[in-house]
Amino acid sequence: MKTAIYPGSFDPITYGHLDIMSRAAKLFDKVIVLVSYNPAKPNCFFSLEERIEFVKRALGELKNSENIEVDSHDGLLVDYFKKREADVIIKGLRAMSDFEAEFQMALVNKDLFYKAETIFLAADVTGTFLSSSMVKQIAAFGGDVSAFVPHTIITDITSKLEIKK
Ligand code: PNS
Repeated sequence: MKTAIYPGSFDPITYGHLDIMSRAAKLFDKVIVLVSYNPAKPNCFFSLEERIEFVKRALGELKNSENIEVDSHDGLLVDYFKKREADVIIKGLRAMSDFEAEFQMALVNKDLFYKAETIFLAADVTGTFLSSSMVKQIAAFGGDVSAFVPHTIITDITSKLEIKK
């Protein structure tokens, strides 16, 4: 039984994330989507509870989500990895600009715990430009984000941006 952990801020989840989840679910027996704390992004726009709820709702759009679990963690990724006796960490790579930071994180995690292997899945070509920050920016200016985020969370995104204006 091979378990993969797919960690991220998911602030909010996009179709790019959902694509990685779907593909990882075909490659591993179990995938844990781990809504995590990124110290480099201390002020997430959406609360932890909202981000978890959005991931759960978005997974409802997938046909193959039976082996995907959603959890959260606000410590070191490797501690969670050990606790769940996972086999790999999954990361999506969009462009070369992602590479340096992702490579560094993979090396750090491996150094902290030798069993923590990271596997990178190349983003689908349509998602290479897509990021949660772009989605928030487009939505904040009233743009249409329906091509980028699961339709079950669009209203939540736009209404929260509306309240914060
Ligand atoms: O979606 P993000 O913000 O790029 O995800 C980054 C994340 C949350 C996976 C990363 O910041 C992380 O692993 N945070 C947990 C803290 C940790 O283990 N840090 C050491 C490895 S760099």
